[in-house]
Amino acid sequence: MMTVRVLFVCLGNICRSPMAEGIFQHLVDEAGLSDQIEVDSAGTSSWHVGERAHRGTRNVLHQHGIAYEGRARQITPHDFDRFDYVLAMDDSNLSDLRRMLPDGSQTVVRRFLDFADGVPTREVPDPYYDGRFEEVYKLVRQGAEGLLAHIRAEKGL
Ligand code: 4NP
Repeated sequence: MMTVRVLFVCLGNICRSPMAEGIFQHLVDEAGLSDQIEVDSAGTSSWHVGERAHRGTRNVLHQHGIAYEGRARQITPHDFDRFDYVLAMDDSNLSDLRRMLPDGSQTVVRRFLDFADGVPTREVPDPYYDGRFEEVYKLVRQGAEGLLAHIRAEKGL
């Protein structure tokens, strides 16, 4: 059976990309696609490697009934071989990823919100600086729904 692998990437891997991972995994589970779609997240920086997600991200996921136990890690070159989609939370993450992308890689490297309909922005604002975790949750949820619809259509799942 085909497995589609999706990696969400932000700067620290403690606020936005763990939120996207948790929400998207939840939608994948609900859709009964856990065996076909594999989900992970990583940071472009090493700053928070090994740490749990930010309390704000853990709280907002918990409030919406989503369990998340992941620990922060930094992206590696190998991730571009392994994952079919490597999705940036903002433009700065995207340019960092493009710089790391190995020549000839087939991975789709895009902004996460490029797959969302009806959102007012293509970048996920960083709640690390302003504490707006609930607003970011709503945006990421819309993005995750759009992404899942896109992958299902593209891969026939
Ligand atoms: P994230 O947020 O990239 O969404 O995980 C940040 C986390 C930590 C820092 C910046 C952004 N920091 O400067 O340590």
